[in-house]
Amino acid sequence: MAALPTPAAPPYRPRWWHDAVIYTVWVRSFADGNGDGIGDLLGLLSRLDALAWLGVDTLWLTPIHPSPNADFGYDVTDYCAIHPDFGTLADFDALVAELHRRGMRLVLDLVINHSSCDHPWFRAAERGKASYRAWYYWRDAPNDWEAIFGGSAWSWSETAQQYYLHLFLPQQPDLNWENPDVRAALAEVARFWLDRGVDGFRFDALTVLKKAPGLPSVAPTRREALRMATPEAEAPADTAVPPDTAVPPSPNSPLLPQPAWSHFLAQPGLEALFADFVRRAGLTRDHLTLGEANGLPVERAAPWIAEPDGLLSLLLHFELWHIDRPTAQGGATLDTVAFSESCVRWWQTARALGTRPALYLENHDLPRVVSRWADDRDPDATRRAAKAFAAAQLLQPAVPILYQGQELGLPNARLTHWAQIHDRAAEPTIAALRAKGETDSTILAALSRTGRDAVRTPYPWDATQPFGGFSAAPPWTPLPPEHLPLAWQQQYEDPHSTLHWYRHLIHRRRQRNQGVTP
Ligand code: NOJ
Ligand code: CA
Repeated sequence: MAALPTPAAPPYRPRWWHDAVIYTVWVRSFADGNGDGIGDLLGLLSRLDALAWLGVDTLWLTPIHPSPNADFGYDVTDYCAIHPDFGTLADFDALVAELHRRGMRLVLDLVINHSSCDHPWFRAAERGKASYRAWYYWRDAPNDWEAIFGGSAWSWSETAQQYYLHLFLPQQPDLNWENPDVRAALAEVARFWLDRGVDGFRFDALTVLKKAPGLPSVAPTRREALRMATPEAEAPADTAVPPDTAVPPSPNSPLLPQPAWSHFLAQPGLEALFADFVRRAGLTRDHLTLGEANGLPVERAAPWIAEPDGLLSLLLHFELWHIDRPTAQGGATLDTVAFSESCVRWWQTARALGTRPALYLENHDLPRVVSRWADDRDPDATRRAAKAFAAAQLLQPAVPILYQGQELGLPNARLTHWAQIHDRAAEPTIAALRAKGETDSTILAALSRTGRDAVRTPYPWDATQPFGGFSAAPPWTPLPPEHLPLAWQQQYEDPHSTLHWYRHLIHRRRQRNQGVTP
């Protein structure tokens, strides 16, 4: 049998981030420094010793810019400032200095696909200011795209007397990346933070920056398919009808939102648009750049991550979002084969490209692993599962990204009252369950399993302190009492804890990796 061709590995270029262990901080719930119940930069600063002891060396902060919090910072009103809840630019500078003094690095989340509807750019565009008008997408009548968070992807602006496009919440209008002024403005934002000392960025919603040209509806595409399959004489006349005519809502109506991923996810030409931004921002491969990459298959990894001139350091692909295997009891467990295959596929691809892949199991959008793939009602089973998942992640030849609380083996918070529900992206789920006649407690139980509020509760630092040591005041959302037995201080004092196991694996990994090629 002929030998399979082996791709020649490009020359290995060590990058500092090949050996990084990245830790995600959801700042509002990490540590409160000024006693107002909201996590902030000074609180984070006061906990750097704990993070350095754990061994993580790079922090990714979810957005810290001013925001009305429709989507907790993913709706930005000023890209070059700090949200007053989180502190000041002086606090930020102190954090950078203190991290760098310890040999640690900082990565900021940049929300480049959309701004807040309260951003001055959008307000100016809405008022028709010529220089800002083409920064967003406007239409007299919407196409049929469904938003990623549900409902139509178009909302009406009273001021503009037109519809605007938002792939997420109505408060998050999409920026028009085809417009070079938009790319230049966002590149200027990146340069502002690089000049302030950040080591890189996580680019939010990277794979939806490019939309199908002309923003065509999904339904007419189906009608065209029908026409192709139908003898010409019988072809439906409505194929010529523009999608914005007032067709009464029906399953085929362009006015009824349709899943439209094929029209905005990982579109051809995305790489070229982003490359222009990278060049303008002056990003190099010595910066650590993470791209949120829903829908980007491993076959398209090369232009993004290949040495020597890939556009990014790491792709945050979504393969592991879809590897739950149903159990006979109606729950889910990890499909270990799919997990291994995914890890190997990404590792082999990255290796052939002279680099390393990223690997995350949790983040601020996903359920906790011990709740997703194990039985979190039994504390012993939960601890064993947490340790097994730690090994599965940290022993891989991939750059690991942890999410705050993962190192404690926290399960999803049990959400038992509506005051714990803050995430607007959950509203369609809540409405659908209500429409089915489900009770409040059933709906809250469903949100506890899959909702994002279940993984965004305050960090339990010390079970013996008021409010778990998170804050001197009642936290902005309750700290779940079931998290207290897993608090950091109590695990620190127990050498057999999940926290010590994470530390052990991180330190072993670092010793092993020194001088090893990807
Ligand atoms: C991905 C972020 O991780 C998520 O939290 C956010 O809601 C969406 N992008 C929209 O910005
Ligand atoms: Ca605070």
